[in-house]
Amino acid sequence: MSTDLDIVILAAGRGTRMQSDIPKVLHSLHGRPLIHHVLDAAEAMRPREIVVIVGHGRDAVKAALKGRPVRFVTQTRQLGTGHAVARTRRLLAGRSGAVMVLSGDVPLIRPETLKSLLAQHRRRRAEASLLTAVVDEPGSLGRVLRDGRGRFTGIVEAREADSAQKAILEINAGLYVFRNAALFDGLKRIRRHAESGESYLPDVIKNLAAEGRKVHTLLLDDPDEAMGINTPAELLNAQAILKRRIAQELAAKGVELVDAASTFVAQGVTIGPGTVIWPFSVILGGVSIGARCSIGPFAHLRAGTVIEDGARVGNFVEVKNSTLGSGSLALHLAYLGDVTVGRGVNIGAGVITANFDGRKKHRTDIRDGAFVGSGAILVAPVTVGAKAVVGAGAVVPSKHHVSDGDVVVGVPARSLCESESDEDPRGKKRVKTRSSKTKREAGQ
Ligand code: UD1
Ligand code: MG
Repeated sequence: MSTDLDIVILAAGRGTRMQSDIPKVLHSLHGRPLIHHVLDAAEAMRPREIVVIVGHGRDAVKAALKGRPVRFVTQTRQLGTGHAVARTRRLLAGRSGAVMVLSGDVPLIRPETLKSLLAQHRRRRAEASLLTAVVDEPGSLGRVLRDGRGRFTGIVEAREADSAQKAILEINAGLYVFRNAALFDGLKRIRRHAESGESYLPDVIKNLAAEGRKVHTLLLDDPDEAMGINTPAELLNAQAILKRRIAQELAAKGVELVDAASTFVAQGVTIGPGTVIWPFSVILGGVSIGARCSIGPFAHLRAGTVIEDGARVGNFVEVKNSTLGSGSLALHLAYLGDVTVGRGVNIGAGVITANFDGRKKHRTDIRDGAFVGSGAILVAPVTVGAKAVVGAGAVVPSKHHVSDGDVVVGVPARSLCESESDEDPRGKKRVKTRSSKTKREAGQ
């Protein structure tokens, strides 16, 4: 943990330009709220404290961050980014070290970039440091002003810029580091702008520069990281950028996305080399896939799923909170929920693990080398032993244990092996289930 860093995330604004009632920072980017992306980057800095400024839609924003290690400070009226940060004075002013300020609507920032901003800020002993980017369409973003020698002199907001300033392509990314005292002293001295009625955090930096105090700017190599989401069109654009970034990262690790455009892979999913992801597959967060696997087309892998090396998941197979052991196959139309599947198992077409009894979820255990026939239903909790066979269409009832090497068929499933070894003296087969044997053994 860095004991010399606090982070403030601005998330109180209404997001009027999004044309929606949802607080802006809760709009979804690649399946998760914008603010989660920013918070991930903040947490990667391992700061002393993360403070989230909430206001518009406060309860919803707090609920979306439930369980995350943050403190909330309320900004009742949204009077600008300067006013917002000033709400943290009681909590943070006077602490040692630096305050990093992040915008809840700038979600593509990489943790490594924030780390180098902080490192440079410290090395240069700057009062304030900010990230800037040169972009093709600066739109509504604040423009960076420099003097004839290229030294930073301030930021002008687009709505207040004259036409020459509007033509500037270097923009303020809305991501800053301040020396604690420079921030809180500076905030006392900024005023609200007449046109917007808001106080601007960038004015603190402008004042520092005007006083000749050290302001450091770091130009982003990848301007996409600075992308601020203020409109639905910008959100779509960010979506495309993030998707491409994830696809490129996977490709660099030797994963083959046959059709990146139709495939959803959440951030943070790990996939081993040589694995092929066929089109229209959805791989959500909290999934890990080994090497040389084949996934899809039309596979749906959900949180808690581990696909081990060489396993294959085919079309219309949903896997949730389950492990599919190495070399195992689930190739057609199956649901595997809360299952541990061993190695070399065949899950036939249409197999379903009925994991929910209406109240609770239960687990299923399918051991190495087992064969589960087409259309079988395993009513959890159930165990299928190593090399056991469950016949096509069988329903294995809850709390049933299919022994290693056993063969069960029918509804409810009964053991074939046991009936053979258990022949009635009159030549009739006594077909019974393993569970009845268990009861007998238990003396019931
Ligand atoms: C801001 C910067 C601009 C920069 C851009 C980068 C200011 C004045 N302008 O503009 O220079 O180029 O970010 O994306 O800072 N917020 C609050 N309380 C408020 C107002 C805003 O918490 O009273 C939050 C918003 O929820 C948002 C962030 O601060 O997460 C930025 O506010 P926003 O209104 O989007 O500012 P921009 O116009 O994008
Ligand atoms: Mg913004």
